[in-house]
Amino acid sequence: MSTASTSTPAPTPAPTAHTADLVVFGGTGDLSMRKLIPALYHSDREGRLSPQTRVIAMSRGGLTDADFRGKVDAEVRDQLPVDDEGQWQRFLSRLHHVSVDVGRADSSGWGALAELLTGYEERDRVFYLASPPRTFGPFCRELEQAGLVTPRSRVVLEKPLGHDLASAQRINDEVGAIFDERQIFRIDHYLGKETVQNLLVLRFANAFLEPIWNSLWIDHVQITAAETVGTPGRRGYYDHAGALRDMVQNHLLQLLTLTAMEPPARNDREAIRDEKVKVLQALRPIVGSEVERFTVRGQYTEAGGMVGYLDEPASTPPNEASRRVETFTAIRAEIKNWRWAGVPFYLRTGKRMPYRRSEIVVQFKDVPHSIFPGGAPNRLVLRLQPEEGIELHIMAKEPGAGETTLKPVPLSLSFGKTFSARVPEAYERLLMDVLAGNPTLFMRRDEVEAAWRWIDPILDAWAADPALPEPYPAGTTGPAGAHELLGRSGRAWHEEDM
Ligand code: BG6
Repeated sequence: MSTASTSTPAPTPAPTAHTADLVVFGGTGDLSMRKLIPALYHSDREGRLSPQTRVIAMSRGGLTDADFRGKVDAEVRDQLPVDDEGQWQRFLSRLHHVSVDVGRADSSGWGALAELLTGYEERDRVFYLASPPRTFGPFCRELEQAGLVTPRSRVVLEKPLGHDLASAQRINDEVGAIFDERQIFRIDHYLGKETVQNLLVLRFANAFLEPIWNSLWIDHVQITAAETVGTPGRRGYYDHAGALRDMVQNHLLQLLTLTAMEPPARNDREAIRDEKVKVLQALRPIVGSEVERFTVRGQYTEAGGMVGYLDEPASTPPNEASRRVETFTAIRAEIKNWRWAGVPFYLRTGKRMPYRRSEIVVQFKDVPHSIFPGGAPNRLVLRLQPEEGIELHIMAKEPGAGETTLKPVPLSLSFGKTFSARVPEAYERLLMDVLAGNPTLFMRRDEVEAAWRWIDPILDAWAADPALPEPYPAGTTGPAGAHELLGRSGRAWHEEDM
């Protein structure tokens, strides 16, 4: 007889609505207006923000509170389901604006911020740095000098966290000189996506997967983040970032760690992050001549009415950095541990691909002995976007009285169809976690640095290689090299019916 308990487990408590002052640097910028303010509005509308919580936007803009509220009303309201005017006005009244020339220590803005925060020291205080990484250290120092860092303060760092290991360490040192590691929340918005959190539940709240989640049963794993968008207006940033820094060092490696990590002993902040770090530390370094074998770089060119990367609108003409930067990359990674030895993890991301899709595909091995012709291995697909869900591709017999014909068919779980609740945006979950002081879905210092340690030799080898990235026509699945990367071992990217 089963000894399993039949009592209903206690539900996970919703993040607590602590009263907080949330100070956003870059408060009138794109991230704030497109993601943070809408996320806060949704949380407010669903009763998850404490009534006294304030949002203080910092920018050079010279705006008053009323100007800023007017700006949000004009630019953000239409993106939102505003169905209760009173509630919308109450939300707007939480918003404040402080003008600060953040490059100048003598800017009067620091005093104005201090004035706004004084008397509220018992509240949680969150400084959200949605500003360029070079500002992280200086802003933290300014905040400390203005006496604004309280024991209940936290700081949120947006990516990119440096452009290599040394710069990431510098930022971590500078911020770490003012804030304790437990107060530092490094955002990777992929960790706020529903399917990513569901991956943990799928793996660790179901018994059937764990026995087959290893090299005995799994042939390989593919992690793809494909985007249809190009980089219009972003070339200034992108020339110095590229797909490896922009997407792989953070988002794709986070997905890899969650797929590959060992079961943590507890669902707690350190237990989960400890296991993720171990995966990053077990990544086999790709160095020297291996870089050419195991990595691919591509750059999109004009096709199908879309301009090539070099012709994207930008404030300056393209230069050598623009010609050398990758808008696509594919990598064959390996994790050197007992569970994953010999299982390739293929990572791929690109701009101007034919579809927008982020997914993890776990491909199982072939049946050991096939009695039917035409079989294909099972695949488990975890889709992050566009439609969040999980599919298990199994072989089935096509109906009919003739020969047995096999067909792969998906057993599908669509989150949207199965659960009636609205699927929250990643930033909503992450902001609520910051306000509740829960860092589980944020990157710890050792995690970020372990990721850079693996990325750096690839960047170095690319920088030393006189060859330019392989061209691929905009709207296609990347350069030929990406297909050869898998083709060499008889594998292919998962490209079905999109
Ligand atoms: C960001 C990158 O971190 O993620 C962008 O800087 C990219 O270049 C974006 O477009 C993709 O996010 P999402 O949630 O649309 O997959």
